[in-house]
Amino acid sequence: MTTNIKNHIVILGLSLLPFSIAGCLQGGSGSKNVSENSSSGEDLSKAPGIDSGGSQSPAGALKVRFNAFADMNVSTDGTYSSHTQAIVNQMTSQKPSAILGLGDYINGESRSLSESTYVKMWKAFDKKVVAPIEAAKIPFLPSPGNHDAYYSHERELYQEFWNTYKAQVEYVNDRNFPFYYSFIKDGVFFVSLDNANYSKLSDRTAQLNWLKEQLSSARAQSARARIVYGHIPLYSIVSTSANSSTIYENGVLKSERRINGSFTLEAILLNHRVDLVLFAHSHGFFPGHYVYPDGKKLMVVSLPCAGGSQRYLVGTSTKTPHGYVDIQVNEANKISIRYLNSAGVEQKFSSLPKSLTLDSKNNVKYERM
Ligand SMILES: [Fe+2]
Repeated sequence: MTTNIKNHIVILGLSLLPFSIAGCLQGGSGSKNVSENSSSGEDLSKAPGIDSGGSQSPAGALKVRFNAFADMNVSTDGTYSSHTQAIVNQMTSQKPSAILGLGDYINGESRSLSESTYVKMWKAFDKKVVAPIEAAKIPFLPSPGNHDAYYSHERELYQEFWNTYKAQVEYVNDRNFPFYYSFIKDGVFFVSLDNANYSKLSDRTAQLNWLKEQLSSARAQSARARIVYGHIPLYSIVSTSANSSTIYENGVLKSERRINGSFTLEAILLNHRVDLVLFAHSHGFFPGHYVYPDGKKLMVVSLPCAGGSQRYLVGTSTKTPHGYVDIQVNEANKISIRYLNSAGVEQKFSSLPKSLTLDSKNNVKYERM
């Protein structure tokens, strides 16, 4: 695939800026853990001796921090928002253990853009976002967004880009990198989802079976924590108008809700001791737990946009600032979240609603942490 993208560049008389060739040499063979566990889909959250928070800690586990950002939505001429630039500067200066990208790095999802426009956008992304992170020697682990990898050719370009720049981490399974894949960093088990398409997961049956297998594995279950991240959420939390109760759905993963059965993303996340889920796409920040009528909870953080247009949290006049999220796993393997704006100023959660209704018909709420 690297050869292909080089061909694109030669044909167009352009060149992508230098990528980390060393990144291609990492040992992501990735399949060693796959067969260790069945994919029975058993409810591990009820396993004896396992509580729903934290997990057994490797001796001497240290406090560790990760950053996550999303929704840069570069303009088609390759111009990034000053907020995105500032956020990249903030994150690189903070030196987190890794940076998670939750998609919409460019502004695709179009059948009419020229090849040269895609090259221009990916080149700008490389220069403005990837290069500073690479220079800071921070692993950057991407998930695809709908504006990056919606149509088949866009998915090819996305894959070519990220196969050229591939962070050096311990991949557990990277057969489908840079779409859905898993890795371990500082004892934390991460899963990137491929939810760049609307309503349901891409490559759905294969991806859900893979996800069950990954989360059931001994490596996942013995990790300090399990964090799953991807672009399009299960529920929207925003509206396009102030003080409106009309939710801007925007392609959320309705088919992946637990109400549709046990073979859904939501059911699998709930049944496998997932400690934290990160979603983007809504362009609004909210930290808390999805709370279900049967008492189950799922910790979910909705990311603010890094450069796109902010939207109102549903039912409010609140647009959360451009920013990024800082995730800390402490010595006891408890997760805490901080939200920082593009100037690096921490934003307090107390100004946010205490609760949002996600699905009134099925009584699913989003309670603020
Ligand atoms: Fe999006």
